[in-house]
Amino acid sequence: MTPEELIPGFALRPAWRLGDPRIEADAIAFWARLNILPPGVVAADRAKELVAVVYKGEDLVGVQTAVIEQVEQVRTRLAMIRGAVDPGHRRSRIAFALTLYSRSLLELWSRDHPEERLGGLGAIVEAAELAERAREPYWPQTRFILAGFRPDGRQLRISWFEDFRVESGETWALSPAAGPVGRSPARTRSDSGCPAIERRAPSGSAPRGSPRRRTIP
Ligand SMILES: CC(C)(COP(=O)(O)OP(=O)(O)OC[C@H]1O[C@@H](n2cnc3c(N)ncnc32)[C@H](O)[C@@H]1OP(=O)(O)O)[C@@H](O)C(=O)NCCC(=O)NCCS
Repeated sequence: MTPEELIPGFALRPAWRLGDPRIEADAIAFWARLNILPPGVVAADRAKELVAVVYKGEDLVGVQTAVIEQVEQVRTRLAMIRGAVDPGHRRSRIAFALTLYSRSLLELWSRDHPEERLGGLGAIVEAAELAERAREPYWPQTRFILAGFRPDGRQLRISWFEDFRVESGETWALSPAAGPVGRSPARTRSDSGCPAIERRAPSGSAPRGSPRRRTIP
């Protein structure tokens, strides 16, 4: 099902880096009406971060914004998304459709801008409404995985783009004796916090022996 098919009667519109004055003005009015922006956030600045919006007729009823940030936890630049839906139209799958739509939009943009090294979408789960869903570590439809926690306990979720590859300096060889390869300094087993890692041969090379599972404390 496409994002458009998920929300019949509503219209999804792209906004990412378009500077569309009508969409920006509608989003600023929407945030003011809902009084939803935190103190100190300038609506006109936030409007420059719009990824996509949803209209019902002439009314803007949903927004999604993103800021590209380096997320040290995964050493990757992610588009950190935020969203809000008009209370009169909640539980209509608008946020869900917006997320799928924004994900495709940003993934295509990222393919056209490889220099941005954008790895995917990131989200900090803030809505109390999502508490029950947040107990599921993987949301298959939007591909958001639980990737960690902020010090205050909020979840960091990541939806990785298919074509993205981490820097080769951060990958590890198949052979347990080889350790890290590439430009990373050598690491010992004790300085990694990884849980069990299933090592895989680099594509195109035949694995030596059977795959190994190593647990790193
Ligand atoms: C959070 C928010 C964006 C959700 O928007 P929405 O359009 O109502 O969400 P959707 O209808 O797309 O819901 C997607 C899924 O999220 C979960 N969900 C959303 N709202 C929920 C609620 N009130 N209670 C329980 N689950 C909820 C459900 O699993 C839902 O799927 P389902 O309806 O098939 O069960 C909206 O409530 C909002 O704008 N809140 C205020 C701003 C905010 O908190 N932003 C998000 C920060 S993470």
